[in-house]
Formats: sequence, structure tokens, C-alpha cells
Amino acid sequence: MKKITIAIDGHSSCGKSTMAKQLARELGYIYVDTGAMYRTVTLYALRRGLFDGAGNLDETALKADIDGGKVQVSFVINPESRLPEPCLNGEVVEDHIRGIEVSSRVSVIAALPFVRAALTLQQQKMGGEGGIVMDGRDIGTVVFPHAELKVFVTASAEVRARRRYDELLGKGQEASYDEILRNVQERDYIDSHRAVAPLRQADDALLLDNSDLTREEQSRWLLERAREAMAE
Ligand code: DC
Repeated sequence: MKKITIAIDGHSSCGKSTMAKQLARELGYIYVDTGAMYRTVTLYALRRGLFDGAGNLDETALKADIDGGKVQVSFVINPESRLPEPCLNGEVVEDHIRGIEVSSRVSVIAALPFVRAALTLQQQKMGGEGGIVMDGRDIGTVVFPHAELKVFVTASAEVRARRRYDELLGKGQEASYDEILRNVQERDYIDSHRAVAPLRQADDALLLDNSDLTREEQSRWLLERAREAMAE
């Protein structure tokens, strides 16, 4: 069967990463979480103190650092989970990018054209050969407009907030459901209204609303769609 490119886009916290990871494992494909790349750049900006107390970002300084090669985003395979984990300048940062601090700033970073240009180019290089499952917001529309399979995933904001809340609690991190719900709604708004590469369903993407689906039902559906696309 031919090695194809699979683009999984959709709203935040609707389980895209989980399903994309599983699909990649089942197919023996590479998995790339592009949200983790935007989160990693956000972590860099936070650590460098590029946000002031009011949440305003020093874009000029961030651009200078990116242009100067000071913000290297990469992935390493975790030997236990065998899954790729994001690195910032060589340091594995998976455990530092999922909390509310990064989550509440990442949309600002992801709206910057110079950040998107740099990460989009890197993503295109990673996926040039096919055999890849990439999840994000603009994979089927901008990064790989010719992907053989495009899926657009969504679920209600309340369902998504509840899932993220449970995930954080499961990791032993403190969380407030109301704060997470506000964050989910705010990110939906910013992600779909930004000028560059806004979140939208590609015309040829299949829609998957998983509000009422179990993980197993969703995985089965996705694997069937992938097999069909690979056989074409
Ligand atoms: O999937 P996630 O929640 O980890 O994504 C984090 C943020 O990055 C989210 O606000 C949208 C943004 N993002 C993006 O703009 N483009 C992508 N390809 C992936 C994520």
C-alpha cells in the first residue's frame, strides 16, 4: 500500500492528538503534533520574559531570536512510549507545555506570521516523503493542501473542557473547569478569526464530531478511512 500523508485538523482539546498518535502507531507512520511546536515557542517566550505583566508580547525580540536561530524546536523519540516528544533547544519540554500558562498564551504566538512561516516550513520538510500523520489547525489547508486524507475533528466546547480538565487532574496538576472552558472558547475564537492560516475545515476534509463517540468507535472510523485512502 502506498505511504500517504494524513492531515488531522480541528478544535482544541477534541482528542486529535490521541487519535492521530494511535493511527500513526497502527500504520507504522511518523506522528507530528504541530500544536506542541507552537506551545514550545510559547514556552520559550515565557521563559525569556517576552510577555509583560499585561500579557503583551515583545514580538520584535521574539522575531530576532527566531531569525537568529535561538529557538530550535525538534522532536526526540521517548524510548519507553516510543512517541515523539517536543524539545526546545535540545531540552525535552513535554511536561512544561500543557499547563494553563502556556495554553493561555499560545494563541497569541500562533497568530504571528513569522512564527507560522518558520514552523510551516519545518513541518513540510518533516512530511515531504508521506508516511506521516500530522495534527494541528492548518495541516489540510496550508501545510499539506494535497494530503490524501484530511479529517476535521470537533466536539462541543463543554465536552472538550471536561476532557482537558480530567487529563490535567490525571497528571496530578491543579485545574479549574471554568477556567479551562473559558480558555477553550477563547482559543476557538482566536484560532478561527486570525488573519494567517485560520482554523477552518478544508473543502475536501471529512468531518468527525466525536462529542458522543467512544475512543474505540472513533479509532475504528479513522482506521477505515485511512485504509480506503491508502488503497486509492
Ligand atoms: O493542539 P494544541 O491545543 O496543542 O495547539 C496549541 C495552539 O496552537 C492552539 O491554540 C492552536 C495553535 N495551532 C495552530 O495555530 N496551528 C497548528 N497547526 C497547531 C496548533
